[in-house]
Amino acid sequence: MICNKLKDAINAQINRELYSEYLYLSMSAWFAKENLDGFANWMNVQAQEERFHAMKFFNYLIERGAAVILEQIDKPESDFQRPLKAFELALEHEQYISKNINDLMDIAIQENDHAARSFLQWYVDEQVEEEASADKIVSKLRMIGDRIEGIFMLDNELGQRVFTPPTTA
Ligand SMILES: [Fe+2]
Ligand SMILES: [Fe+2]
Repeated sequence: MICNKLKDAINAQINRELYSEYLYLSMSAWFAKENLDGFANWMNVQAQEERFHAMKFFNYLIERGAAVILEQIDKPESDFQRPLKAFELALEHEQYISKNINDLMDIAIQENDHAARSFLQWYVDEQVEEEASADKIVSKLRMIGDRIEGIFMLDNELGQRVFTPPTTA
């Protein structure tokens, strides 16, 4: 059995992952409105990844015989002003999520829950990738500045992204 403290903390994390899905969906809608369909696609794929993260926690709680409690999901912003602003916000959000994953791992260590440690390690590694991919696009957008050709080129590149569910689930 999983301890109550970890169960509650994972339930809170399910809500954060679902909020992440919501935030990136909102960004996807904003990019689509701005006619940047490649950026919109990237955000849509990102939202699907967040859904995957949430469901992986969801299924884990069930597997460990613990109750899943779904809470209300906060309303995300809807106007992101500029592509760079959206990706800076995404990067900041991923840094916040990484901190939360670390806190979950701290609880698993304190509680001597080796199974949870092994499970959470996947998220620790995943967050390195999450931060790196957002950071890379922030850097490119800073280099591009206001040059519209650069924005269109990046839009093209981000339009190639497809969702592939991780096999380690
Ligand atoms: Fe996530
Ligand atoms: Fe994420």
